[in-house]
Amino acid sequence: MSEEPAAEGGTAPAVEISGLRYAFGARAAVDGIDLRVAAGEVFGLLGPNGAGKTTTIRLIVTLLPCPPGSVRVFGLDAARERMAVRRCVGYVPQQLSADGALTGRQNVALFARLYGVPRAEREERVARSLSAMGLEEAADRLAGTYSGGMMRRLELAQALINRPRLLVLDEPTIGLDPMARAVVWERIGALRAETGMTVLVTTHYMDEAEQHCDRVALMSLGRIRALGVPAELTAGLGPEASLEDVFRACAGDSLSFLDAAGGDARDIRSTRRTASRLG
Ligand SMILES: Nc1ncnc2c1ncn2[C@@H]1O[C@H](COP(=O)(O)OP(=O)(O)O)[C@@H](O)[C@H]1O
Ligand SMILES: [Mg+2]
Repeated sequence: MSEEPAAEGGTAPAVEISGLRYAFGARAAVDGIDLRVAAGEVFGLLGPNGAGKTTTIRLIVTLLPCPPGSVRVFGLDAARERMAVRRCVGYVPQQLSADGALTGRQNVALFARLYGVPRAEREERVARSLSAMGLEEAADRLAGTYSGGMMRRLELAQALINRPRLLVLDEPTIGLDPMARAVVWERIGALRAETGMTVLVTTHYMDEAEQHCDRVALMSLGRIRALGVPAELTAGLGPEASLEDVFRACAGDSLSFLDAAGGDARDIRSTRRTASRLG
């Protein structure tokens, strides 16, 4: 299926993954996954540190190479049509990318130039991206003075500058307090409602995903252990069940192994770095 020509990607799923694997040396970070994200969905890729979420995301946004046919974005092959895929994707990595020595507006303007937004449209598109993230009043302050939540929203504003059809966010709320997390989700929801944009987000905060994602995939040790609408996934386990219970039920030993090991040391270090820069 999905032999749709690139130009008619309008009806294709936002993301279609089949039999995807990726190994760092002998270690399979992504160990054979199949996944389909419909256009317009807010889709959550969940799992503990080391599950393979970031690697999956990097394969989708073409920052890591994948075999032809294994990843398609709006019908475009991530291996064969890399530049075309990049043009329809906005990506906010887990590590912070905004420059504290520039104002919010200058940071977004930098991305406008990077993405080749025509000069005549730049000012307005920068202003729109900032206001979509509720940063119009703070726009001319140095980003270094922003709170962690504002910094995250600034990065989202940067990623919106090329009007992506697919917005990919890796741990957008990591290290933020509950209030700031709620604001980030509110903005993501408003954006989707206004533009119909597809949002693919990774998180290890299960409660957030349960609340804000249309569908989720639970991942551990490189595999998808469960996939579906949060309420339907939890329904089988009783009225009080949470996604965390679903995870425990389906990931079983692999999850407790990760709990015991405290995740992956390298990943935790980078998480701490991100969190302390946001704090
Ligand atoms: N650049 C890398 N080099 C070697 N191993 C890596 C690299 N990036 C990730 N890994 C390993 O791949 C696995 C999945 O990592 P990752 O995709 O970052 O998971 P997650 O985002 O779910 O925390 C982990 O075991 C991690 O140590
Ligand atoms: Mg990650």
